[in-house]
Amino acid sequence: MASGEGLEDIVAGKSAISTIDGKRGVLTYRGISIHDLADHSTFEETVYLLWYGRLPKAVELRNFCEQAWAEVRLPKDVVAQLHSLPDDANPMSLLRTGVSLLGLSDPEEGGSNAPEQPAPGVNLIGQLGPEAPGFGPNHPNSKKAVRLLGQMAALVAAIQRLQKHQDLVAPRPGKSIAYNFLLMLTGKEPDEEATRIFDTCLILHADHEFNASTFTARVAAGTLSDLHSAIVAAVCALKGPLHGGANTAVMKMLMEVQDPARAQDWVKDALDKKKKIMGFGHRMYKGEDPRATHLRKMSESLCAKVGRPDLYELSKNIETAMFALKQIKPNVDFYSASVYYSLGIDPELYTPIFAMSRVSGWIAHVLEQLANNRLIRPVADYVGRQDVPYAPLAQR
Ligand code: CMC
Repeated sequence: MASGEGLEDIVAGKSAISTIDGKRGVLTYRGISIHDLADHSTFEETVYLLWYGRLPKAVELRNFCEQAWAEVRLPKDVVAQLHSLPDDANPMSLLRTGVSLLGLSDPEEGGSNAPEQPAPGVNLIGQLGPEAPGFGPNHPNSKKAVRLLGQMAALVAAIQRLQKHQDLVAPRPGKSIAYNFLLMLTGKEPDEEATRIFDTCLILHADHEFNASTFTARVAAGTLSDLHSAIVAAVCALKGPLHGGANTAVMKMLMEVQDPARAQDWVKDALDKKKKIMGFGHRMYKGEDPRATHLRKMSESLCAKVGRPDLYELSKNIETAMFALKQIKPNVDFYSASVYYSLGIDPELYTPIFAMSRVSGWIAHVLEQLANNRLIRPVADYVGRQDVPYAPLAQR
């Protein structure tokens, strides 16, 4: 492959949000290992870390949670407009439209994009983290951000319920985003284990440096477009099967292969036909994707719990075959498929769920881009024809 193709290995900007060491299988958010966050943090605490550059103190976390949890609902006009959309559409297309509608109804729509000039005596850096972008909690973008974080969970749940012609379910006040998402999706109160597992999935998907959708969001923000527009752009980039769309494709593959004993032959046949096996490979990780380490464990315990140990066995056999035949390891999307399936979630919703977590990272990157903005405008290596004469229509 030509050097620079797909911007491989090109440093496209500075960021203090997350970093990846692909050789050692390391991922950190604001310098904290993803393993520590997965084991000890919550999604809300992780979002605060991504946005404000440091872990919150107890009172800050409480305030942040209260704000975010109060936003896990949709404005009435947005629900009405969602009802008018085709209910057999791709859920990611509905999500794209839904985020756009949320932008139109946002009370801060049209608010300033410029970083904050702190009031005299206010040390924004001290108040926030050392690397936080210049947006205090009262900036229009911060208000939009926390609103959108909660609304995304409500929107993803609503998309599925509207598609199934079910009534929307109200959230329970004082409960986490993970809890309320599962409640609003299924109409049943999730148990503690399911809530914790889903919360960990949200942490694991929250940010990943300059991946395609995040970079797309930064490019849009770099033109000084608004937050919702940047997030719509990111949703569009996430939709494709080489990025977020892979998790749904993994579940379809697991359903097609079905029998763990068939895994080896199925993988060999697909590779012989030069097919890409979804949920495997990564531009950055050459060894284990550290997110897959957690998802594999969760898949094993959840599949056993719901009486589908065969699904984990099938996944494991595909992983073994893929490594034996191609030396390629699973990425974040591979085991998240069997985890979400075991939580009773429909495969079509896996990519929207990725978005409802990744919106936190997209927002962190948009704020970082705006805090120190320069238009993102690379150059092309022109390989087309030169000096071509213009032929009049009649002579072509
Ligand atoms: N199945 C089969 N072969 C693969 C796969 C795969 N999943 N991934 C990479 N390869 C092979 C590829 O065929 C090529 O082999 P060769 O050199 O013999 O032609 C080599 O590995 C390099 O692949 P590439 O496509 O040039 O690598 P890339 O860095 O451009 O692509 C990727 C990375 C993630 C797009 C790719 O691995 C892929 O298509 N994977 C399947 C889709 C997927 O799971 N995407 C989710 C990515 S992680 C979550 C996210 O960011 O959304």
